[in-house]
Amino acid sequence: MEKTVNAQRRNLILGGAALAATAGLPRIALAADPIKVGLIVPMSGPFASTGKEIWAAVKLYQQLQGDTVAGRKVEVILKDDGGVNPEITKRQAQELVSRDKVQVLAGFGLTPLAFAAAPVATQAKTPMIVMAAGTSVIPQRSPYIVRTAFTLPQATAPMATWAARNKIRSVVTLVADFGPGIDAEKTFTKFFTEAGGKIVENLRVPVRNPDYSPFLQRVKDAKPEAVFVFVPSGEGAALMKQYNERGLAAAGIKMIGTGDVMDDELLPAMGQAAVGVISSHHYSAAHSSPENKAYVEAFAKANPDMRPNFMSAGGYDGMHLLYEALKKTNGDADGDKLLAAMKGMSWTSIRGPVTIDPNTRDIIQDIYIREARMVNGQVYNVEIDKIEQVRDPGV
Ligand code: PHB
Repeated sequence: MEKTVNAQRRNLILGGAALAATAGLPRIALAADPIKVGLIVPMSGPFASTGKEIWAAVKLYQQLQGDTVAGRKVEVILKDDGGVNPEITKRQAQELVSRDKVQVLAGFGLTPLAFAAAPVATQAKTPMIVMAAGTSVIPQRSPYIVRTAFTLPQATAPMATWAARNKIRSVVTLVADFGPGIDAEKTFTKFFTEAGGKIVENLRVPVRNPDYSPFLQRVKDAKPEAVFVFVPSGEGAALMKQYNERGLAAAGIKMIGTGDVMDDELLPAMGQAAVGVISSHHYSAAHSSPENKAYVEAFAKANPDMRPNFMSAGGYDGMHLLYEALKKTNGDADGDKLLAAMKGMSWTSIRGPVTIDPNTRDIIQDIYIREARMVNGQVYNVEIDKIEQVRDPGV
């Protein structure tokens, strides 16, 4: 029955003659079809900045590189999942695969949303490019997942080692209470303790409608030398404001963290308050390579009110990975072939040299230690140290 219905539909679309002409030919015979990418990101809700950054980067990639690769047009279908309900993300992934016939899924602003879509990618044998979510375990949820973002353990371990080496002896960790935050907490605790540091307390803040004040008061009362923080992209300014209002800076408690709290998009709003914060991450708008300088300039031209952040880097590199994979398959968008082409791919990203680990399908990249400084009247994360080619250490 199913077959008949499908055949009838195809007949309607192609017309009898065209169907006869293509009967028996492999799918690649329809090479003139566009390749469809279903991009699911939060364009609204509390994490809208993540979606907006990724969407801006995806559009910019196509503007600079063209919308055709290996003879095939690449058509991106944007879906706003609102960022908070995994059921919505899952349903959108299902619809994109079954109704819109996308050959690639991409985006995924937060870990629970990537988890929700993973079984859809597996079932449809559709590559799923995770451009944002950073919990270590994500690629293990589907053999079709490839990640161009980063992982929290990958960014956190270098921060812990740096802190211990730079004479920070006691730390309270303060993280958003979900996958990436827990990864960050566990990784910081492990690496900092191993390097001789002392964890005074581990604090977890709710992800939804967080009020950082009472937690920061507990940090202040515990009197550590530093507070290590992870909050999801978009939240950093609120945390920074309360950190100052509660008098932690005045009490001499340093803030350190992954670059999520020092999100490039929020830095201009944080202003002077952010100066001096040390963070570790894979991307800074101030990264001084020719590739990144060209990117930041083009991004600013296309989006005058925005500064590209690390989420945009995940989106831009996700498109690059797809385009390069399509070149390798000569435009064949078969899921298994695309995935095979993506595994082991290396390139010079706007963030520096990167490789997709062929075994884990996760990204291997340089992690930078950065200090927030005023540069020409604006705050930037200025890279002060680099740890080369870091793999996800897991948790
Ligand atoms: C995640 O949900 O995995 C996530 C969200 C925001 C970040 C990093 C990770 O900044």
